[in-house]
Amino acid sequence: MRRRFKNVEKIDIFPKVQEEYTQSTASGGTVSILSFIVIIVLVVTEIRYYSASQLKFEYSVDHDIDSKLKINVDLTVAMPCSAVGADILDVTNQNTETFGELEEEPSHFELSMPQRVQWETMQRINIYIREEYHAIQDLIWKDGYTNILRGLPVGNEVAPGRPNACRLHGSLEVNKVSGNFHITAGKHIPHPAGHAHISAFLRDSDYNFSHRIERFSFGEPTAGVFDPLEGDEKVADSNFYMYQYYLKVVPTEIVYNGRKQKTYQYSVTEQARPISHQSGSHGVPGIYFKYDMSFVKVKVTVEKHSVWRFLVRLCGIIGGVFATSGIINGLVKCCVDLVCSRKCKSKYLSTSVAVPPLHILDESNLMKPNPPTM
Ligand SMILES: *[C@@H]1O[C@H](CO)[C@@H](O)[C@H](O)[C@H]1NC(C)=O
Repeated sequence: MRRRFKNVEKIDIFPKVQEEYTQSTASGGTVSILSFIVIIVLVVTEIRYYSASQLKFEYSVDHDIDSKLKINVDLTVAMPCSAVGADILDVTNQNTETFGELEEEPSHFELSMPQRVQWETMQRINIYIREEYHAIQDLIWKDGYTNILRGLPVGNEVAPGRPNACRLHGSLEVNKVSGNFHITAGKHIPHPAGHAHISAFLRDSDYNFSHRIERFSFGEPTAGVFDPLEGDEKVADSNFYMYQYYLKVVPTEIVYNGRKQKTYQYSVTEQARPISHQSGSHGVPGIYFKYDMSFVKVKVTVEKHSVWRFLVRLCGIIGGVFATSGIINGLVKCCVDLVCSRKCKSKYLSTSVAVPPLHILDESNLMKPNPPTM
């Protein structure tokens, strides 16, 4: 039996040193404690790094053909519902009725106190996210940012007077091509030669395109997607005003826990100018959202680190700290000896650091002959 294990014993990488030849020292103890602390700190950091998920962004050409695009709108215009109309024109010149219709709800443009408070909070959050987007995008993707403030509380006290505003809300299904969603004076009428709005019965003073956007998003509502137009509020100081928003819609796919979700993000630039034909600023007053599809698709993958890599790194940390502490231990002992004005004997240096000059070691001390009876 013994004989059979003899060969295996030869490849033992853990040669045993007899107890009486090992020596414990105070400096060695200190280094050991320090290395344990370092190991604990590093392992804790590693566990935290491991438990956090990681974001991967990929960009590719969008191959998704013939799909529809959903636009979700909720905005309030400071004009009575009978005076405004919303509709969409896109490059296909398709009949706009097929896109669906927004609900019109008479309301008040002035907000009640609790509504004002919530509106301003939502505005502040959106402005903050807009400015810090790159710094906190990890946060909003990983934690699934949702606009919890979406939807104003219904005003308890109804403002006096007749409703002076119109809230337009709902979803429209449009073609996934460039288009123009707009709100202008008068109701839209189908016209064989194109597109027309009747606004003949409105006085100049009826025009007021002040507006507040509570919601403007594309696709299904998805956590992590931030819509920059939400919280936008404009008050017009003249009756004829033209607000233009240029939107670039980016198809986005989010892969989270193996689940795929398709949605859209957008970026926006805006322009506003008063319309005055005398001073050469022409156009039709209204609110225009000109959207355009991006041909690039973004894929965001929220990934976990692999368990195997984690284990490998853990072993690396523990083993590395042990090896390093051996070196430090040797150096510390050497220094202590020097300070105590003893000769620095190289036999204190750990074998893992440098090859000890064997000639000064007493060979008989290192090798203990096996008792022959065993
Ligand atoms: C439009 O309506 C808003 C809100 O009621 C008001 O503050 C603003 O002065 C109005 N603008 C004009 C030109 O009447």
